[in-house]
Amino acid sequence: MVVRSHAIEEALARYRPGRSLEQFFYTSEGLFEYERRTWLARQWFLIGHSSEVPRTGSYIVRELLGESLIVVRTATDAVKGFFNVCRHRGSRICRDDGIATAFTCPYHAWSYAIDGRLRSATALVEGTDKAELGLKPIRLREVGGLLFCSLDPKTPELDATPFLPGLEYQGVPGARIAARRHYPTAANWKLVMENFHECYHCLPAHPQYSGVMGHVKRYSMDAAGPAADWNNEVDAWARTEALSDFPQAIVETADADWSYTEITRFPIGGGRRTQSEDGQPVAPLMGRYPRYDGGVATFGVPPFSYFFLLNDHAVLFQFLPRATESTDVTVTWLVDAASAPDAVDVERLVWLWDVTTLQDKAIIEANAAGVRSRAYEPGPFSKLELWGVPLITQYIEDLRAQ
Ligand code: FES
Ligand code: FE
Repeated sequence: MVVRSHAIEEALARYRPGRSLEQFFYTSEGLFEYERRTWLARQWFLIGHSSEVPRTGSYIVRELLGESLIVVRTATDAVKGFFNVCRHRGSRICRDDGIATAFTCPYHAWSYAIDGRLRSATALVEGTDKAELGLKPIRLREVGGLLFCSLDPKTPELDATPFLPGLEYQGVPGARIAARRHYPTAANWKLVMENFHECYHCLPAHPQYSGVMGHVKRYSMDAAGPAADWNNEVDAWARTEALSDFPQAIVETADADWSYTEITRFPIGGGRRTQSEDGQPVAPLMGRYPRYDGGVATFGVPPFSYFFLLNDHAVLFQFLPRATESTDVTVTWLVDAASAPDAVDVERLVWLWDVTTLQDKAIIEANAAGVRSRAYEPGPFSKLELWGVPLITQYIEDLRAQ
């Protein structure tokens, strides 16, 4: 059991919903270390795409919450994950991604099968049981082409039923990575997630996103007229344009009841077919889409993984807390595996989320700088920031209960 400090107890007791958090929650090294060992370890994190471990023995080395992990495709076609920690004296075993028939530690050459069992080690003392010295596993789930992992054996099972058929329709299991970009952000993970979960900032901070995405009319302003215009546009799209066979998707009409864990579809708006600058395709249709309908499907595996599915590409968002005031944001763009390289216009493909994520990095880092000030105190959330509130209240409730 990880013991927590009085400072954490007191901050949790003082929390009041409806306002941003106290400085302590964003800047305390002790709190981050406590979260890393407890609450964060019990979350599922997107760690990669199946195409990164295509064959038996293909492996990737990734960092999660200060741990180095090996994720490998085994001979039974299962993807497994292990701590990258030798069971002899603890050395790192793998440095870079690769393909292997065994993992051999560079220190004294203990060698592990790709399913983690200790295969050979020289000069062991008599009675040493090699069966007890396999690599320590992490929880790893491959669902619909996505690789998720969690560090704690007690993490509740990942429930993919709301979105697995949608991933299959989209062709995510057989997709290929067309681009991946990293946006290391100098801020606590809560500032990053609070930003991601509201569009109050879209109009002031994201001119390109606001120009492309019609739903900004409803989610970035508190004005009945534009919201009604948007609702009418969605209704008309649902009646005339929207593909009806996208599995289990809720259409985001004005009164639709939707959540992050279910797939929600809505139009990009303005007749755009995809999220490019001119609205025109950037790649061939993905998966089972018979035609463009200009829709975007979105869902998440809260709190750290979110997805946008367009007719011709998919966008994966990974948020990985790295340190108290450091969060890795990684965006990966998938296209249909069968698409020829010259049929994918990578710069046009990445344009919207690249420019938007760079803007978010800048505003979040400015937010973090102000939060460090002696003048900072929690301020009131607006009506348009209410999506992010459940994430934080859940976090507070979970910490109070643990
Ligand atoms: Fe790995 Fe010795 S630490 S073989
Ligand atoms: Fe943003």
